[in-house]
Amino acid sequence: MKRPFAYIAGTGHSVPKNVMTNDDITAMGLETNDDWIIERTGIRQRHIAKDGESLASLSAEASRQAMARAGVQPGEIDAIILGTVSPDHLLPATAVEVQHLLGCSRAVAFDIGAACSGFLYGVIVAESLIANGSAETVLVIGAEKLSAIVDWTDRNTCILFADGAGAAIVRRTRTGQKGILSSFMRSDGALAELLWRPAGGGAEPFTPDTFESKRQYVRMAGRDVFKHAVRSMAEATDRALDAAKLTAADIDLLIPHQANIRIIEATAKNAGISMDRVFVNVDRFGNTSAASIPIALSDAIEQGRVKEGMTVLFAAFGAGFTWGSLVVRF
Ligand code: UT7
Repeated sequence: MKRPFAYIAGTGHSVPKNVMTNDDITAMGLETNDDWIIERTGIRQRHIAKDGESLASLSAEASRQAMARAGVQPGEIDAIILGTVSPDHLLPATAVEVQHLLGCSRAVAFDIGAACSGFLYGVIVAESLIANGSAETVLVIGAEKLSAIVDWTDRNTCILFADGAGAAIVRRTRTGQKGILSSFMRSDGALAELLWRPAGGGAEPFTPDTFESKRQYVRMAGRDVFKHAVRSMAEATDRALDAAKLTAADIDLLIPHQANIRIIEATAKNAGISMDRVFVNVDRFGNTSAASIPIALSDAIEQGRVKEGMTVLFAAFGAGFTWGSLVVRF
């Protein structure tokens, strides 16, 4: 068996209408400012859900776009895989609610909890389902409503994280011309507590004290996570290029996880890809974890940055830690 088994047939994205600027965060009383946030992260604004916008509604909207662009009907979807760490409910998976909203009655639906790598992991699982004959057409979504799980008094985290959803239709390729050329996935649970939510799960169920100590919210050792992100994203890009037997010169566009402009620049430098061949939208959307890569891909396609015949390298790193990469020919 030889790749490519599957290709990306259509993409879409949806973000909340409400835009929050850096000045809006300062106005909430936090000791931070626009200059610091732009210089240290590259973020100028982010979208934050309001008025009943849920993970499922954002995911369904992004998915409808992806399905329309791929020319796929709800009944043709065999599986829905949703990467998220901020589901609408702890039980059941948000993917089943999205299935219901879309009317994909034949589809098996499940969530993947791999943080910022969730979408890439999802695409690789989708490709595997196609390769082993379990599916022909898979809807892969990366979606987050991180505004619901960040501590809005913690300037280390609340300036970064945001809401949104991106989706892609992954289908069996019959031509062998385009599709997923290589992939790489890794996880390391040794340093899980550098980026986590201590309470709310079975190990530390919610009690009235949880809310006092704010242990239900995301906690991050930013500087440590930064170092691991740079190192792991470098490994991820190198490994996917090697596996595809390609070099940086063969890559038309790098679409990295949009966590921080400095991590993106370091990843591009290590890979030997100049910034004019790197897609950046962290300035407009902030860090949307699992949603960041599919939003960036959909945005890049809408802007004409990804065209038929181009070879695109994706790389992600997130809580867990998890990291991974993909090379895809469009
Ligand atoms: O999505 C994947 C996982 N997440 C990431 O990849 C995020 C990785 N980490 C980062 O992006 C960066 O570490 C941050 C943006 C979170 C922080 O930037 P940094 O350059 O690593 O700052 P730092 O934590 O080393 O803090 C430098 C200084 C500190 O002050 P002192 O101790 O030097 O006086 C912080 O208290 O900046 C201060 N600081 C802030 N100042 C203004 C931290 N956050 C803020 C803030 N506004 N929001």
